[in-house]
Amino acid sequence: MNIQIAPSILSADFTRLGEQVKEVEAAGAGILHVDVMDGHFVPNISIGIPVVESLRPKTKLPIDTHLMISEADRYIERFAKAGANMISVHVEAVAHLHRSLDLIHNLGCKAGVVLNPGTALSSLDEILPYTDFVLIMSVNPGFGGQKFIKSSVQKIANLRKMIQDRGLNVHIEVDGGIDMTTAPLVTQAGAEWLVAGSAIFCAPSPGEAVVEMQKIASQPFSV
Ligand code: DX5
Ligand code: ZN
Repeated sequence: MNIQIAPSILSADFTRLGEQVKEVEAAGAGILHVDVMDGHFVPNISIGIPVVESLRPKTKLPIDTHLMISEADRYIERFAKAGANMISVHVEAVAHLHRSLDLIHNLGCKAGVVLNPGTALSSLDEILPYTDFVLIMSVNPGFGGQKFIKSSVQKIANLRKMIQDRGLNVHIEVDGGIDMTTAPLVTQAGAEWLVAGSAIFCAPSPGEAVVEMQKIASQPFSV
């Protein structure tokens, strides 16, 4: 499994954003996670299209836009044009999920489906073959620094089995409460891409935190 650390800039120091992104990129982060919140789908407001546009020329990392916004379809094209490489939408935030994924693909981006902690894996039954990655939320979306919901580990393991049983090539990303303790739990369950905000950007050295998490998360199963 190719484990990638995806720092979430939600916890970055926005006055030093370019510098912090360079630091995590140099340390080996594989994906740059951008949390977009509208104060409607989730009870918080964050950042959006102009920040993606500003980051695009500053990093070679794939930009992963996690859209926590109602009527996400209305904004997908603008995020793609701003430079996003990966766009994920919540099952509950679009009316026609298949159409949304088509739109994302037609814009040349990888398409992801996001499941909240309270959303069942069965909601993926029909859409899984059209999905490049599934983002399992291990906290309720809206804020950084929340406590990891432990049942997410079993959910990831069940999803890994579902993907294998169906012979699909779908990646599993996990987001929320990922730190040096929870990272190995989720990778051992089958997650490949680990979103981490506070564990990276609230650490004394974000670069060192990326290196450490990559190492811890990539350790083989212990018995
Ligand atoms: C939460 C966001 C996360 C958030 C994770 O709604 O989707 O990406 O930044 O933050 P931590 O890693 O601090 O839980
Ligand atoms: Zn996120």
